[in-house]
This record gives sequence, structure tokens and C-alpha cells, in this order.
Amino acid sequence: MSGSPLRVAVLGAGTVGREVVHALLDRRDELASADGASLVLSAVAVRNVERAVAAGYPASMVSDAPAHLVADPDIDVVVELMGGDEPAHTLIAAALSMGKSVVTANKHVVAHHGAELEATARRTGGVLRFEAAVGGGIPVLGPLATDLAANRVERIRGIVNGTTNFILTAMTDPASPFEFEAALAEAQRLGYAEADPSGDVEGLDAVNKLVILARLAFDAWLDPAAVATRPDGADGPAGPGITTVSLADQQDARRAGRIIRLVATASAGDDGEIQAAVLATALPLESALGRTSGVRNRIEVDAVPVGRIGFDGPGAGGAATSSAVLGDLMAIARGAGSTWGARPSATGPTGDPVTRPDRPVLIAASGIRYPIDD
Ligand code: HSE
Repeated sequence: MSGSPLRVAVLGAGTVGREVVHALLDRRDELASADGASLVLSAVAVRNVERAVAAGYPASMVSDAPAHLVADPDIDVVVELMGGDEPAHTLIAAALSMGKSVVTANKHVVAHHGAELEATARRTGGVLRFEAAVGGGIPVLGPLATDLAANRVERIRGIVNGTTNFILTAMTDPASPFEFEAALAEAQRLGYAEADPSGDVEGLDAVNKLVILARLAFDAWLDPAAVATRPDGADGPAGPGITTVSLADQQDARRAGRIIRLVATASAGDDGEIQAAVLATALPLESALGRTSGVRNRIEVDAVPVGRIGFDGPGAGGAATSSAVLGDLMAIARGAGSTWGARPSATGPTGDPVTRPDRPVLIAASGIRYPIDD
């Protein structure tokens, strides 16, 4: 180990925060790199101090004032795990403007404020790492920025929302008849769903993740609002995300040797035009994406010269996501810099308007025209 210990404040002690705090308290030695600074948990911001102390958090560490922890000169690294837009956005921006290092799992903040936060970090020398924002425990942003840096990415696509994939899988399980509400309740119980799961089922969580993947693949921050989420229906656009996918539609897809999954896709044309969409899509049953079931995520990168690379693993949940957060903390301790690594800067306003991929469709009995992919 080298250098002074890095003093860490964790903001938020929910599903992921709890796992990160326990790891920092119980596994500190395992989290020390041979060639990096050690990590010391100094503070945890919680909603309710009394309840946190009763749950076993050291009283000397807990606070209900996250802004004070961010401003505290004794804190070197801020780990933002509160979720949602505000106050998380302002806290992250404040830490970066002070030149601090930030680790976050907050895909909403990174997708909606990425250009601004990147500009601040580049200006102050602050570090922003967000591997946990996409794919839960799957390392995908780091490899895109570093190991695949010699490639030109042509397309990136994947199943990036565990909650919807859990529900769509339940719809196709012959042993458990489809019950949308029951499957969603189970996903919530297991800690996969967002606090407000409408963002999961309407595809907005996947849109945020696609915007972040596109930043690493194409060096532009897309406007989340420009990403399509509704397939065409018989009389105009169908519902967003998986809100109008029915058991009958899944059965229609199955008769065609396919399965409907929520797929996020972004690609760049030769002219630089970016196409991006998050759509319920009919995939071959036996394809790698078609076989990706339950809460698993899978992200595929088509790039030149490497060809197709697949990243597969647990896409949500406290334990899996804490793996990515802790990995980012260890990277900071080793001086690894921000998640975008040496990729070109993307600090301006949103790039070119996003268009929707034009693909053949499977027309279900409901009239919904599900795009077909391989
Ligand atoms: N609600 C998200 C999901 C959590 O279901 O994938 C992980 O980002």
C-alpha cells in the first residue's frame, strides 16, 4: 500500500449502501491494493440517525447532513448511493467542483447531467466513477473505456434492466403462470426494482443506462428524452417499455421461435448519426440475449477489429452492485481516474438528435409491431 489513507463518506444506506458500508467496515484489508492507498470509512449519511445506530452503524460515523460531509475537508471520496435526481445531483456536482473523487451508482444523475459533471471533473481534476450505474455487478464501462479503446464501436445493445427481464421471464415460465404484479412485487422484495418501479417498466431506467453506454462507446452524451421507448401499435405508438407486453404477445413470439425482451440499442452510422432505442424486441429463443433470463443482464458490443464481445452477469441487487462500487473505490485508491479514462472529452450539450433503428417487425395479435433482432 502507498500514500495516506483515503477517507470515504457514503451517502445513503439503502440496498446498495448497506452492502458497501459493511464491506468497508468488515473487509477493509481485502479492499486494499498492493499499489494503492488504503480506504477508510469515515462517515455515512442516512435519513434517520437513530434507526441507523440501532441497526449497528457506529454512532460516531452517522450523519443526516450529506452536504456537510461533502464539504468536509477531511473527506476525500464521496460515494453517492442515495439515488434519484436531487439532492444527489447537487452533492455530486459540489464534490467534483472541490476536486474530490466521487463514486456513484446513480444512472439517472449520470445520464441526465453527464456532460455537466464531466466538464466539472475535467476542469477541477476531480474523479467521477460510475461502473455500478450500468449492469449492476457486470464490468462493462471500464472495459469499453480501456481494454476496448483500440476499437471502433459499431453497435452496443443489451438487456440492462433486471426488473423487466425478471417480469418477462416470469411470463414465459411454464411452471409459474404470468402474474405481472406478483413478479414485480418479487423483484421489489429482492431489491431489484427502483423505489418507483414505473421507471423500470416504462423503460426509463434502461434509457439512462443506454445513454451511459453510448457515452463510453460513441463519446457523446445523448438526450435521454430523445430515446424511443414505444413500439408501434395498430393505432399509433403502443405503451412504453414493457407496459403493453401481454402473455398473448409472448405466446405469439414463441410460436415464431422468439421471445420478447426489453432491449436497449445504440449504434453509430458512418456519418456519425446515432440511433438509439429501448424497445420490447422479439429475439430468437436460442440467442444469447434470448436465453438471458431473470435478473441477469447481458450487454453486447460489436466493434472493429475485435468483433462481438458479450458481458453477462447479475444486473441488479445490493450485493452485485456493491461489487462495482467497491471496484471503483479501489480504482480511485490506485489513481485510475474517471470511468471515461482516456476517451475523448464529451462535455458539450447533447450531440446530434437520436434516430430510431429501422428494423423488421413481428406483428402480435394485439397489433403491436415488435422489432425483430438477431
Ligand atoms: N432497477 C434496476 C434494474 C436496478 O431492475 O435493473 C439496477 O440498476
